[in-house]
Amino acid sequence: MKGERVTVREILKRYGSVTAVEDVSVDVEAGEFLSLLGPSGSGKTTLLMMIAGFDLPTAGLIEIGARDLTYVAPNKRNVGMVFQKYALFPHMSVHDNVAFPLRMRKIDRAQIARRVGDALAMVQLDAYGDRMPTQLSGGQQQRVALARALVFEPPVLLMDEPLGALDKKLREQLQIEIKTLQQRLGVTVIYVTHDQEEALTMSDRIAVMNDGHIVQIGSPADLYSEPASPFVADFIGKMNFLSVEYLGSEKAGHQIRVADASTLSVTRSVNGRAVELSPGLSLQAAIRPENISLAARGSGGPHAIAGTVDTSIYLGTHQILLVNIDGRNGPPLHIQTSASRDLSAFARGDAVDILFQADSIHLFSGKDGVQ
Ligand SMILES: Nc1ncnc2c1ncn2[C@@H]1O[C@H](COP(=O)(O)OP(=O)(O)OP(=O)(O)O)[C@@H](O)[C@H]1O
Ligand SMILES: [Mg+2]
Repeated sequence: MKGERVTVREILKRYGSVTAVEDVSVDVEAGEFLSLLGPSGSGKTTLLMMIAGFDLPTAGLIEIGARDLTYVAPNKRNVGMVFQKYALFPHMSVHDNVAFPLRMRKIDRAQIARRVGDALAMVQLDAYGDRMPTQLSGGQQQRVALARALVFEPPVLLMDEPLGALDKKLREQLQIEIKTLQQRLGVTVIYVTHDQEEALTMSDRIAVMNDGHIVQIGSPADLYSEPASPFVADFIGKMNFLSVEYLGSEKAGHQIRVADASTLSVTRSVNGRAVELSPGLSLQAAIRPENISLAARGSGGPHAIAGTVDTSIYLGTHQILLVNIDGRNGPPLHIQTSASRDLSAFARGDAVDILFQADSIHLFSGKDGVQ
């Protein structure tokens, strides 16, 4: 089995007056694992259904390999599909469910027996061929669905929240199994999820969707460290947001006011809508919990900002401290430190110095994510 490239070009999908997907273009490389990640209603399923052929675009083009498949029927696309609900045929045994796509393709009996055996072994269910779907757990049913989607060796596998119905532990186990299988087989996968951790774990690239658009596409590390908008910054990982006042720019970077007497310099450029930077302009600053640290009040040096500890939470591998910036309302900052660095010294009510890594602060103009 070898993956094929999937090309989606300027896709628009309208249902009456509702625009479900708009201006979406993406090239998925052969053998790539791409996730479509976004909140409910952002157009993920609609886009996947058009690639599968169950739905037709209002405008635009879909190619698999070098073939234009925009208006080709689903069963002629050679694409495997796994849905959120297991969607096994309830009256057929596990073996017959997996054999179904091969029978449809008029493959001979001996080959069917061998390929079903291989597919079930691949998902570690070789001993379950005679069972009926109702005699399987949710995770086992989803493995059968995966075997059925892969048994005819499609170059492209589409999955729509395939693990959504499973509990967290099983979900994490199957994430690794699917990823391992995908890499071994070299199949191209387009995977829909609204779970950012799942997308980060499994994907080569993630396309973040909002309101029918792809708002950013990149590797998990790119999206995490270089979010293009507050929406992406907020959707992937934990992010602290502060509305700040722009004061001016110097050699050291952009000067921003965080609280009455507290200013910071920020070395990154301002993302988001093009605006003229003039003193007094309101910007959004965003910073990850692991890019903030604490020191005892008075020991943080000239760039520290005064704060007070609200809550300290121990989480085994790391520790979260919720800290209020003095002289400023709003939610406390989340600060994450490794548990080995002993911050147990900090307790609720302690006066502290907050230290921001200047090159880790993102500045955004405008509040929303769609630009
Ligand atoms: N058949 C339809 N008729 C009208 N509107 C539709 C239809 N299918 C989807 N929509 C609308 O299109 C938009 C995108 O829906 P879609 O199912 O693609 O979202 P999604 O990202 O998969 O969401 P979820 O995470 O909840 O599954 C939504 O506003 C939805 O209401
Ligand atoms: Mg959906």
